[in-house]
Amino acid sequence: MRIDIITVLPELLESPFNHSILKRAKEKGLLEVNLINLREFSTSKQKQVDDYQYGGGAGMVMMCEPISNCIEHLKKDRTYDEIIYMTPDGELMNQKMMNTLSLRQNIIILCGHYKGIDERIRQLYITKEISIGDYVLSGGELAAAIFVDAVGRLLPGVLNDETSALFDSFQDDMLSPPVYTRPETFKELKVPEVLLSGHEKKINEWRHEQAIERTKLRRPDLLEE
Ligand code: ADE
Repeated sequence: MRIDIITVLPELLESPFNHSILKRAKEKGLLEVNLINLREFSTSKQKQVDDYQYGGGAGMVMMCEPISNCIEHLKKDRTYDEIIYMTPDGELMNQKMMNTLSLRQNIIILCGHYKGIDERIRQLYITKEISIGDYVLSGGELAAAIFVDAVGRLLPGVLNDETSALFDSFQDDMLSPPVYTRPETFKELKVPEVLLSGHEKKINEWRHEQAIERTKLRRPDLLEE
């Protein structure tokens, strides 16, 4: 999968993809992430990418031309399956959406700033609008990083059998059961007996029950779906 991220703050995204699982995905050639500085596509001397909004009001709006120039430039070299705009008024990100999008080949992510982007860019180019939650970030970059992380780890070959994404929270609309590691007793709290039993069937049953209990308690909305 190739992900091209259009941003006015490429520096902000230099680190997130160079560690742990995503680093391995890149090294294995399963994931390529490119950071594209939107300012390079501005035609003005000052490399302007935003302007006052028509109708007045506080806050700048990201202009059409630099974004359009940038997307057209990228589209010369390949076709894109999806051009995603990270925005608080987009569709709420969830695991199902990540599963679907992990099957795409080439994706552009556009990170918004200020008051957002000119509506005409949304009409002309954007194929999907995604929000990572009901709160407003100062820009789309951190949301884009979360998107790449969530999708990148689902690419075939990125995780091994043990860490397989199939066992994640949310993969069956359920939260994960509690987990424990050594020592057996910590500050008088003991690891549940069943986990020390070596009885695989009982352990799986226990984990399933715990997952249901936890979901009922913390996220009953998931069970209703
Ligand atoms: N940009 C600003 N806030 C955002 C959010 N909640 N999700 C995605 N992109 C954003």
